[in-house]
Amino acid sequence: MFNFNYYTPTKIVFGKDTQQQIGKLVKETRCSKVLIHYGGGSAERSGLLAQIRTLLDQEGVAHVELGGVVPNPRLSLVYEGIALCRKEKVDFLLAVGGGSVVDSCKAIGYGLMNEGDVWDFYEHTRQAAACMPIGVVLTIAAAGSEMSNSSVITKEEGMVKRGYNNDICRPVFAVMNPELTMTLSDYQTACGCTDILMHTMERYFTNGGNMELTDAIAEALMRTVINHALILKDDPHNYAARAEIMWASSLSHNGLTGCGNDGGDFVSHGLEHEIGGMFDVAHGAGLAAVWGSWARYVLKDCLPRFCRFARNVMGILEEGSEEEIALKGIEAMEDFYRQIGMPTNMKELGIEPTEEQMKAMAHMCSLAAGGCKGSARKLYERDMLNIYCMARGV
Ligand code: NZQ
Ligand code: ZN
Repeated sequence: MFNFNYYTPTKIVFGKDTQQQIGKLVKETRCSKVLIHYGGGSAERSGLLAQIRTLLDQEGVAHVELGGVVPNPRLSLVYEGIALCRKEKVDFLLAVGGGSVVDSCKAIGYGLMNEGDVWDFYEHTRQAAACMPIGVVLTIAAAGSEMSNSSVITKEEGMVKRGYNNDICRPVFAVMNPELTMTLSDYQTACGCTDILMHTMERYFTNGGNMELTDAIAEALMRTVINHALILKDDPHNYAARAEIMWASSLSHNGLTGCGNDGGDFVSHGLEHEIGGMFDVAHGAGLAAVWGSWARYVLKDCLPRFCRFARNVMGILEEGSEEEIALKGIEAMEDFYRQIGMPTNMKELGIEPTEEQMKAMAHMCSLAAGGCKGSARKLYERDMLNIYCMARGV
């Protein structure tokens, strides 16, 4: 077990009708003007934005708006948001949406509180000193950005997708009403469940510092997400299942499932970020498309963890060698992905990268990682290319 910091300053307001409290929650921050930041229309169509405008008006909180955040949120809109907030003297950011909207808010928040180009932080050439306070009304359970220290932005020039982690961007509050996720498509629900699982799996498949308590929490979380994702496949309006998944989204990425270990592997995320940048796919689906190939590639270097995963998460009961059991666990996970309509390779994801494109992605991925990445096994550019090739699909 390694030493660790666990920092979760976000107040969670969870359950039915909790968005009704938004006016009061924002007012409590004593801000003078709020930016309501949102995506491509789902929050307008559902009536959520109208409700939020009314609740802010009732509390006498001034607000301006900026919509148009797309999945894999773009840097150009971040710049637009920074300029708008400066002009309007905004001092609080309210994200209404999913990970993309929250991440765009975080980037605007960095831009407002620091001199120079906000993209520098995503290129890791300098650190942000502050971030404007952010509140969240979450409409999709997936990225966990409502409690995480992370923000992922895509720069249009070259379609470069990069993440920046800093505790100062963790939201002040997150309103989480599972009912708001019932308008999601089955595909987006499944992408979300995959991402939630992956945030814990990235932390679970490590070779250092594992703690029994952290492992037990991680395994319970993974089993819960798998069980309830299958329930939602047949019964998308099941409130209890939506609630389990939504709470799991936050716990999976607020640091809890990595306490005491070496910080996690996160190679699958690195590989996906390049796919997301180049092909603009949904993040969760991109993860599902590479995970099985990554797992087989690193299996022998992290065998006890894969075995434990097979037994305690995927419920593999058969006897066999450690490697056979571990492989059965990977196969069971891929079966689960198929059951919820997720791809298990890039062809099923709907992309067929050329050799050159895969080389470029592997190169960018290793560069973004500073040369190499991974805890289950340390991987270099050549390994990343090998995994992309394995994940091509036939
Ligand atoms: O834009 P709208 O119209 O709202 O549609 C969105 C979007 O098309 C739709 N949606 C959201 N809530 C809905 C809804 N549709 C109907 N009803 C609702 N209630 O869902 C689509 C996906 O939304 P998005 O915000 O992109 O999803 P997600 O939360 O999965 O976020 C993905 C982004 O987060 C990044 C990913 O890389 C990706 O860019 N990540 C952020 C992390 C973080 N900040 O901690 C960690 C993750 O690993 C991830 O990298
Ligand atoms: Zn993710």
